[in-house]
Amino acid sequence: MDAPDRVNAGQAVYTPLTLKVYDSVVLGFSNRFLWRCPTSELEAMYDRNVSDDHLDIGVGTGYFLDRAKWPTNDPKITLVDLNDYSLRAAANRIARYAPTTVVANVFEPLPNDVKFRSIGINYLLHCLPGRMAEKAPIVFDTLLSVAAEGASFFGATILQGDAPRSPAAQSLMNFYNRKGIFSNDGDTLQDLEHALIGRFQDVQIKQLGSCCRVRGTQRLTEPSRWISAGKTQ
Ligand SMILES: C[S@@+](CC[C@H](N)C(=O)[O-])C[C@H]1O[C@@H](n2cnc3c(N)ncnc32)[C@H](O)[C@@H]1O
Repeated sequence: MDAPDRVNAGQAVYTPLTLKVYDSVVLGFSNRFLWRCPTSELEAMYDRNVSDDHLDIGVGTGYFLDRAKWPTNDPKITLVDLNDYSLRAAANRIARYAPTTVVANVFEPLPNDVKFRSIGINYLLHCLPGRMAEKAPIVFDTLLSVAAEGASFFGATILQGDAPRSPAAQSLMNFYNRKGIFSNDGDTLQDLEHALIGRFQDVQIKQLGSCCRVRGTQRLTEPSRWISAGKTQ
């Protein structure tokens, strides 16, 4: 597969039919029995990190957005996905928040006239082609281009490398990698950590089975120094 085909393969599996079963198959079965990453831990990550002005990239069915404990009754939510079925499914699910939807490929620059205070990319990185060392810097730089000062970024991704995985988990990963549904053959914790630490502050990384949950904050610009009575404070 060439590069555009590989990007396309990472989203093509999300059809109205697969989206109908996604929550039970992925978030119900695979998270619990294969990736050993409790969905409740991912829900808690959303609860802790969402803001009143949130961008979510790679939205799937909108499960986490629907269940998140938002800090206000009317959060401003923007959904970005390359797949129109995912966008529509998620937007319908959280229609009560009247989200804005944008069809876009996270490998390409996003419109950056609007900045967000929180950005979620749950289960997106392992769908993107390339090794973690190549794709994470591109994606993180895209996020930073639309992050407000001090914005939080968060998400989880399924890793290989040293990440623990059962033979059953490994065979499903191999199958998904052959089909291009996952591209995590070259995804290691070390490369993810390296890309995060170079770009965000307050980085937190937690391994949950084969999955790794991360968060970070947009680096604040240096506090402006001001001169008072001849002293720099
Ligand atoms: C595994 S689902 C994750 C869904 C949801 N975030 C969750 O955690 O349940 C991955 C989503 O990323 C989207 N996606 C895949 N490649 C993408 C790309 N290059 N740019 C933007 N979205 C992409 C897919 O269409 C799909 O909706």
